[in-house]
Amino acid sequence: MSKSLLSLEDVHTHVEGFHILQGVSFEVPENQVVVLLGRNGAGKSTTLRTIMGLWAASAGSIVFRDQSLRGVSTAQIARAGVAYVPENMGIFSGLTVRQNLLLATRTGRFDPDRLDWLFSIFPPLHKYWNFPAGKLSGGQKQMVSIGRAMVEKRSLILVDEPTKGIAPLLVESLFDAFLRLKQMNTTLLLVEQNLSFASELGDSVVVMDEGRVVHTGSMETFARDTDMQSRYLGLSFAAPQSPAETEHLP
Ligand SMILES: Nc1ncnc2c1ncn2[C@@H]1O[C@H](COP(=O)(O)OP(=O)(O)O)[C@@H](O)[C@H]1O
Ligand SMILES: [Mg+2]
Repeated sequence: MSKSLLSLEDVHTHVEGFHILQGVSFEVPENQVVVLLGRNGAGKSTTLRTIMGLWAASAGSIVFRDQSLRGVSTAQIARAGVAYVPENMGIFSGLTVRQNLLLATRTGRFDPDRLDWLFSIFPPLHKYWNFPAGKLSGGQKQMVSIGRAMVEKRSLILVDEPTKGIAPLLVESLFDAFLRLKQMNTTLLLVEQNLSFASELGDSVVVMDEGRVVHTGSMETFARDTDMQSRYLGLSFAAPQSPAETEHLP
């Protein structure tokens, strides 16, 4: 059994006066891919932002290695080894791929070995090194965004919906990149609505609804259980239900 790299226990987060996370607990074991699933508005992005210190948890504990992250600044959390790839990617369209990555370094210099390693995972970064990032496809932009998060060594990568808005044909190369990350034993907490993408990468799954964790377990079991998928994810993967049918649900 691998040791947990990150552990959340009974985490609550208030955002602009609203009680959004209402007791979130789960573990991210080292060298594993944990997929965070749930309907829109379930609290997935809020969970990542809370781990990263972008929202302050109002109660509970967030422990990374042996260090509490509560009350720690986002910059310090990044320095401790946590990378965050936000939903909107946060890249600079007018700058080249190289400039985007350079701005993400702390020292203003690249570590050549690290770059070679990044290129091996994301070949398009090498290919389009001096191209404006804005000219790349959605999947390639997402690689720039992840490359920015990983240009220096990190122990845990949080990624928010990498396939969102990306053309289905281009999702595959992104999938290959994630598969390489997984093969290199990267610890990932991945928010992903695309179940086929998520199920092939994930070791375990955490399902949220209305600011709470409603299920945790192995991805293998979850991926096989279509009843569980429709119960927890509703319209995302199951046929729409009429209001009359919905009334009979527990
Ligand atoms: N800046 C904000 N101000 C107020 N409410 C917010 C804000 N951001 C998110 N929320 C609310 O928090 C809940 C969870 O949102 P979010 O974490 O983005 O869900 P998910 O990523 O699972 O779709 C939603 O009900 C959303 O409306
Ligand atoms: Mg979200």
